[in-house]
This record gives sequence, structure tokens and C-alpha cells, in this order.
Amino acid sequence: MPHVVKNFIAGQWVDARSGETFESINPATEELVAHVALSTGEDVAEAVAAAKAAYDKWRLTPAPRRGEILFRVAELLRDRKQALAELMTQEMGKIVAETGGDGQEAIDMAYYMGGEGRRLMGYTAPVEMPNKFGMALRDSVGVVGLITPWNFPVAVPSWKILPALIAGNTIVWKPGEDVPASAAMFAQVFADAGLPAGVLNVVQGAGQTGAALVEHPDVRILSFTGSTDTGLKVYTQAARMGKKVTLEMGGKNAIIVMDDANFDLAVDAITWSAFGTTGQRCTATSRLIVQKGIKPRLVEALRAKAQTIRMGDGLDPQTTMGPLVNQKALDKVSSYMAIAQSEGASIITGGKRPDIAKGFFFEPTLLDHVTAGMRVEQEEIFGPVLSIVEVSNLEEAVHVNNNTRYGLSSSIFTENINAAFRAIRDITTGIVYINHGTTGAEIQFPFGGTRGTGNGMREAGQAGLNSFTEWKSVYIDYSGRLQRAQIDTDAILGENEV
Ligand code: UN1
Repeated sequence: MPHVVKNFIAGQWVDARSGETFESINPATEELVAHVALSTGEDVAEAVAAAKAAYDKWRLTPAPRRGEILFRVAELLRDRKQALAELMTQEMGKIVAETGGDGQEAIDMAYYMGGEGRRLMGYTAPVEMPNKFGMALRDSVGVVGLITPWNFPVAVPSWKILPALIAGNTIVWKPGEDVPASAAMFAQVFADAGLPAGVLNVVQGAGQTGAALVEHPDVRILSFTGSTDTGLKVYTQAARMGKKVTLEMGGKNAIIVMDDANFDLAVDAITWSAFGTTGQRCTATSRLIVQKGIKPRLVEALRAKAQTIRMGDGLDPQTTMGPLVNQKALDKVSSYMAIAQSEGASIITGGKRPDIAKGFFFEPTLLDHVTAGMRVEQEEIFGPVLSIVEVSNLEEAVHVNNNTRYGLSSSIFTENINAAFRAIRDITTGIVYINHGTTGAEIQFPFGGTRGTGNGMREAGQAGLNSFTEWKSVYIDYSGRLQRAQIDTDAILGENEV
């Protein structure tokens, strides 16, 4: 029986006002998973009104109490992790071990941000005048609008929802249209953990739903993860309205392998980072930048390893790689094969759909003879496609690595500590790994990228709180007289004495 997925507004599951629905399809079987409310501006306006009405009570709830609700969220998520993982796999295709990991990131984030309920640190600093005190506090903002993608149906929303909540904001969330049922199950966890009605609202839908959220005047803060095209539209519209925005968009992440690398480790890491999640992570490795000497042996080992990958339904424990998310993704990834060949690259394995009757599958693909600047070396393909670029030395490797419009994650495999430290110094992406693939960022560190990957904001860790708080500087003068600041004291010598 397919699910019926409604909106969650003011603590109630409700149909879209228009009565319209759309479908969520299993990308491995092409079967229907859910009928889903298709929301318009009217539904968004109701959700924003509910969030606005709930705001004062929530911001005045002591942060440690807010934290206790987040701890309950963590515990309920742990209980429901398997069911949530299976539903995510049905909606977006990645294997259950990965959707379990997706849920685990949300559990980790719920504990982390729950703990922030007793920290949310501001600071004090000495002040210029006697009998005066100064402090800086993190303040809540109001209603925040969240737009999230389908590739991490629970983890990525958790990076936004949990810090926004602990900081005292209320939320309207528009989940990815390929994963509405997973989002609904995730939202139910918050309700069951005791989050008051109206604090977290969910509006399901597609582009027009997100646009209505971005344009709503009462939504002062937006956080978006998704495609570069959509993200830039969000940014433009938000800028027109003077809103604060956090953007996390594309990546064209590379692993650099030096001649002295630990060979077997590099093979495993490249395979996992390039083909895990069917290459559909913003942190996925889509470029291998490899030093000349090790290249022939490495490419051969990767080719052999790619051919051992078992494609299929992610619910089957034998499967090691699921399908792409939908037909559009399959068309896009497929289209890059002709582009690669026309640019002079060669497909050394994969490059086509496997012999599987149903589903949006695409074989793990290696493109050799790629050179810096080719489209397959520059553009985000978002599928199981690895472009291989040969380089002579570290300097060239770092140059190729840095030279794309994106700047999310990079990695280098070397046993030479000097080379590793030079790479850390010179690589210009937001995340750098040494002897580890480009995926697997942990929630207690800042997550995000430079250049076209984002807009300078970061998610997760302490940095993640910046998206959902404003600094409030407070000065308390207990001198009982006017102490004038920013005035030349020579003229009024002695005025500020104790
Ligand atoms: C994403 O693909 O949008 O570091 C996020 C990683 C995961 C998050 C990926 N923790 O690969």
C-alpha cells in the first residue's frame, strides 16, 4: 500500500489546500511509494503563520529544556532507525547500510545540538570604561525556511532543523520532492518527542513550493542545500528581499594520489567515494588526479574493483550500489558519456545502463585520458562517474584540484608528511582529507565549501549555529552617570575615572 503523505502544519497532518498531489517513485523498482500533498503559496503561508504563532513561546522556553526535547528526538530516531532507513532506500535508492548511516548522522546531530542547550556560548570581554560590563549573546531570529535535497533525506535536514531549534527559532521545511515520505517520518519523530505544535512545519511539493517559501516576507532566514541552479535562484531572490541565506550547492571533488601512496588503501577509498551513494553526494569523488608513476597500476585496479560492484535494489543485502534517483538524473549522467568521448576521453569501464529491466541504474564508470578544463573535469555530473587526470607532481595536482568553480572536498593519498602538509596549506576547498576519501564529514566540524559551492556560510559544528542566530551585543553601565564613548578624551580628561 503506498503511503499518503500530507503537510504538517501547526501540529496537524493536512492535505494541500488545492487537493493536488504528486507521486514518490521507488527508483529501483519504479513502483509507487507515496501520494504526496502538492503545496502552493497558500499552504506555505499557513505554515509560516503557524511557525510565527509558535515562536514566542518556543524562544522563551529555556534552551536546556529545548535541548531535552532534542535528546528525546535522538532516542526516538535510534528506535526508528531501521524503518526510516528502509523507507529512505525505497524513495531514493541508496543501499540500506547507507540510509542507516544517514539516520545515524541525524542521531549524532540531535545529541550534539541537544548539548548546545546548555552551552550556546556567547562571550564577555573587558570594556573601555569603569563600572561598565559588556557581553555578546546568540539570539534567535524567528521563522526560518529550510529547503533540502533528496540524497540525504534525513541527515542534511538534521543539520538545519536541529541547530535552528536549539537556537529558539521555528521552522517551515520544504523537503526534496523525491523523498517526501522519509521527511514525514522524520517530522513525526519531533512531534512524538514533544516538540510543541507549530515549531516545526513541513510543506511538501516542488519548485513552486520552495519559491513561495523563499519569497514569504516573514521568513527572514533561509538555508538551502541542492543544485547550483536552484541555489543561485534562491540567493538572488533572497538578496532582493534582504534575507540571510546559507547555501550548500555543488562539488567537483578530487582525490590526489601520489606515487608513494598506500596503494590498496587508495583503491578502496576511491571506489567508495566515487561510487558510494551511486556518486550522488555533494562530497563524492568525481575526479582522480593521479601521479604518472602509479597511474597504470591504479587505473587497472580501479577497473577491476568497479566491475565487482553489484547493482540492484538497495533493500537487498547483496546490493553494493543502488540506482540513480530518477529518470532525469539517468538522462543527465548518460548525456555526459557522449560529451566525454567528444572531448577525447575514453570510457574504460561502465558508461551505460546495466542489463536490469527496471530502475534508473547506471554502471560505475571510469573515464580515462581526461585533461584539466574538459567539461567532464569541470561540471558536476552527480552519478557514478570518475574522471581520471594524470599529473607529474604535487604542484600540478594541487593546481588541477583547485581549478574548478566548486570548492567542497579534496583528498590526498601520500605517505610523505611534507607533501601532506603542503597539500593542507595549498588546497582551497572547505574540507581536506589526508589518506581518506572525500566523503564522510562528521557533524561536529564545519561543513561547506569555497567558491561556487556555497556563499561562505558553514553547516554543522559550532559554525552551523551562525546560520540560525544573530549576535546581540549588550552593554550594562552601572556607573550612574553618563560615560561618553567614542569621544576624544583629551577634551574631557578625568571624566571617566572610577
Ligand atoms: C551531501 O552530499 O549533501 O561527508 C552531504 C559526507 C556526508 C554528507 C554529504 N557526511 O559525505
